[in-house]
Amino acid sequence: MTYDHSRRVGTYAQRLARYLGWSRREARDLALAGLVHDLGKTWIGNDILLKSDKLSDEERRQMERHPIIGARILIGCDVHPFYVETVLYHHEAWDGRGYPTGLKGEEIPLSARILTVADVFDVLTSQRPYKAALSLDAARERLLQGSAASFDPMIVRAFLTLLDEYPNFTLPQRSNALSALSPGSATSLAHADDVIIRVPAGATLMGALHPR
Ligand SMILES: [Fe+2]
Repeated sequence: MTYDHSRRVGTYAQRLARYLGWSRREARDLALAGLVHDLGKTWIGNDILLKSDKLSDEERRQMERHPIIGARILIGCDVHPFYVETVLYHHEAWDGRGYPTGLKGEEIPLSARILTVADVFDVLTSQRPYKAALSLDAARERLLQGSAASFDPMIVRAFLTLLDEYPNFTLPQRSNALSALSPGSATSLAHADDVIIRVPAGATLMGALHPR
C-alpha cells in the first residue's frame, strides 16, 4: 500500500513537472524521488508506525525526523543531491511552518514543492483505515484551502489545471488492498502518510487526513 502510494506520488509529480516544462529526464528523476520520498520511515519504530491512537509530542517529533533519515540514507548511497534535497524538504510548507528545517516559499526546492502537492493529493483521495477517500471535488477544495499556506500556489494551480484538462489524470486506487489486510495490519497504515494542510489563517485541517 505504501509502495503504491509512493508510486502514484512519483507519477503525479512527474506529470506536474512535465506540465511545468521540465525535460522528460528531469521529470523521470522526480518520479524516482517520489518513489523513495518516505524512505526514512523504514527507520521509525513500529511502535510509532503501528500506533492507531494519536501520537504523543515525542512520537510526533520522531515521526517528523523521517525526511532527515531518508536524506541521510540517500547520501550514504551516494546518489545525486537532487534526490537528497527533494526527500529532505518534502514536508516543508510554503509559509515556513513545515519540517524539518522550516524553509519558506521559494527557498524550498521546486522539486520538493511539486512532490508535496502530489503527496497530499494522493493522501486525500486514498482510503485509509481512519478515513474514507475524498471525492475529487473535496480534494480540490482542500488543495485550494492550503494554497499559499502549505503549498506553492503556482503548483496548486498547475495541478488543478491538469485535473480539469485530462480526464485520465488521476491514478487508480487499489482499494481492495485494504480489505485484504488483517485488522491488525490495517492499523499499520495509520501513520503512513501524515500530512498537514493549513488554511491561511493558520488553522490546521487534519480531520480528514489523520485522527487527532
Ligand atoms: Fe513523508
